[in-house]
This record gives sequence, C-alpha cells and structure tokens, in this order.
Amino acid sequence: MPVCDLASVDVYPILPAKDPWRYRNKMEFSFSQNRAGDRFLGLIIANSRGHVLNLEECHLTSPWFIETLKSVRSWWVETDLKAYHRYSNTGSLRTLTLREGIRTQEKMAILTVSGHPDFALSRVQIDGYVKAVQACGAASVFLCVQQLCKGSPTQFFEMHLAGPDHINEYLEIGTRAYKFKISPRSFFQPNTLQAEALYRRALEMVSPGKKKLVLDLYCGTATLGMSFALQAEKVVGIELAPEAILDAECNLQVNEISNVELHCGDVGKILQREKIASPDLVIVDPPRAGLMDDALQQLLALAPKEILYISCNPETQAKNIKALLENGYKLTALQPVDQFPHTPHIENIAHLSR
Ligand SMILES: C[S@@+](CC[C@H](N)C(=O)[O-])C[C@H]1O[C@@H](n2cnc3c(N)ncnc32)[C@H](O)[C@@H]1O
Repeated sequence: MPVCDLASVDVYPILPAKDPWRYRNKMEFSFSQNRAGDRFLGLIIANSRGHVLNLEECHLTSPWFIETLKSVRSWWVETDLKAYHRYSNTGSLRTLTLREGIRTQEKMAILTVSGHPDFALSRVQIDGYVKAVQACGAASVFLCVQQLCKGSPTQFFEMHLAGPDHINEYLEIGTRAYKFKISPRSFFQPNTLQAEALYRRALEMVSPGKKKLVLDLYCGTATLGMSFALQAEKVVGIELAPEAILDAECNLQVNEISNVELHCGDVGKILQREKIASPDLVIVDPPRAGLMDDALQQLLALAPKEILYISCNPETQAKNIKALLENGYKLTALQPVDQFPHTPHIENIAHLSR
C-alpha cells in the first residue's frame, strides 16, 4: 500500500526563476594538473573521475567570476605551484571560491590550499594571489588552509589577507528588506533572488496566525528564522557551523530582531540536551544528506503541529518524509522552486501537518 496518496496533496507547479541567467552568488573552482603538467582551473567535468574543465565562459554568474578566474590562472602559470593531488596528498592549490552579493556587488575571493607543510605558499606567492584577485575587484581576500589529519575531521584555518572580513547581501521578504552578513565559510542560498521567492513561498504555506514557538533547524545565518520572526512570539535556530552562528547573531542585531534565540551545535544533540517546548512549527533545511536518524527521532518527539521541510535533494527528502508519514504526519503540499536554472537540480518545500 502506498504510504502517501498524492491525490490528497497540493502539488504546485515549479516556481520558475524570473531571470535564469547570471544568478549564482557563489562558485567553487578546482585546480588540477594532468600527467604532462598542463594546468586546469575551472569546474570538475561530470563522471570524469575529477577532470577539470578550463572554464573560459559562464552564464550562471556575473562576468566578474570569469575575469577573476582568468587572472588567478595567469598568476598560477607564473609560479611553480602545483595543483593539489588527492591520492598522493601532494601539491598546494585546491580550490578558488568566489562570492558576490547580487544586490550589493561586494566581492570575496578564498583560495584553499593544502595544509601539508612541504607545499605551503611563500609570502611572495600569497602576495601574487592577492594582487591577481584585487586587479579584478575582489575587496575581501582570504587564504584557507585545509589540514587533513588521519582519523579526525578535516580542519580549515582561515587567513584574512585584505579588505573587509565579510560581504553583505539584502533579501526582500514579505514587507521587509533584510541585510545579511556573509563570512567565507557561512552558508547562504546560492541564488539570491530565488531565495527570496523560496522564503516568501515558505511563509505562505504555513497555517495563518501568529505562532508561539518556531524552530529553524539547520538555520545557517538564520535567514529563514528571521523571515518567520514577525509571525512568531519566539524563534529558536540551531546550526552546526560557529561562523554561521556568529553571522546570524550579527544579522539579528543589524535587522533589530530580538525574538530569535540561537544554538550552535548538531541538531540531534542540541534537541536532546536542551529542554525545548513543543513548537507550533518546525522548519528543517538540512544539507543534501537529509535528516540523520537522531535528528529525525528528536523531531518526532517534539511533535510539532506543522513541519516545513526544505531541501535541495528530493531523494533524501522523500526518504525522511516517508518516515514522518509513518509517524502520524500528513503531507499537505509540495512546492518545487527552481533555484538552479540550466541544471537538473531543484529545491523543494514540503508542508506536513500532524
Ligand atoms: C542547506 S543549508 C540551510 C541554511 C539556511 N536554512 C538557509 O536557508 O540559508 C544547511 C545548513 O545546515 C548546517 N548543518 C549541517 N549539518 C548540521 C548538523 N548536524 N546540525 C546542525 N546544522 C548542520 C550547515 O552548516 C548549513 O548551514
């Protein structure tokens, strides 16, 4: 017997992006070399076992991304630096991440390098990288050292090299415009304008009326929690990344929001440790892997009246929704949102009620 009869679910058509071009505010490019030593900096080719395309043009971002990519490639060619090689743990250069506020045009560059001391960059090489990205307009410049330690989680050490230590972005949601601070390692929805559409739709999909308590799980920089703050007496956000929590705290202050409380840590563990009252609404927006078992069990124990499950991976979302349906929830509505035009990916909002 099917767990869910879709005939009783409001399945809305995909919400399209107004502008399907130049929408991304973040891209991560990889460094790579073949056996002949040819250098590549760009995107990993699908199903190619890690081969990188030397990207010359991209219509998903503003032209600044490609100008900076080319400038960094020219700097690389003038050095004797090697691309990092995963299997042998040799070489220096791993990735170049570029971020740009779509509304603010503020720009950030982050070069991620190996933490192996034999492959550290010299001062002159670091200065060369800073010049290469500044020549194209990146104000905020970082070096990130990725340290692998066998048997323990990979560590990242950020070095702030030039300019402001963050960029800003604005989102217009409902009747308000919100300002957000974005640090190098904080999550922010990659399509700024569609993020507004996503949050607006999420607000519309919950039952009307002010909520006593809303939980924003996997809250990132608290963008969703802040969007719901006007509709709630209190919002509690939980997020693993300390950098995102610091940004979220700053965002609350800048936007003069005083009814959002934040916890830094793993969702499953925080929910188990903190005595959180039963909320009216829980918003979950987990990474692609979906909800881990302990988080799912804690969510069921909270027994909220409504759940809004936002996901960029329909496969794990469907698996988690099945478990919720088997535990007393009903799927009431599905709203796919095209966050990633020209790609097969989709963001999906599911509304469940108990
Ligand atoms: C898809 S993002 C959603 C962020 C936010 N809701 C937004 O719209 O900007 C997922 C977030 O979950 C966080 N995260 C990953 N694993 C986590 C865990 N076990 N516990 C808490 N947060 C986690 C990530 O750091 C990331 O910020």
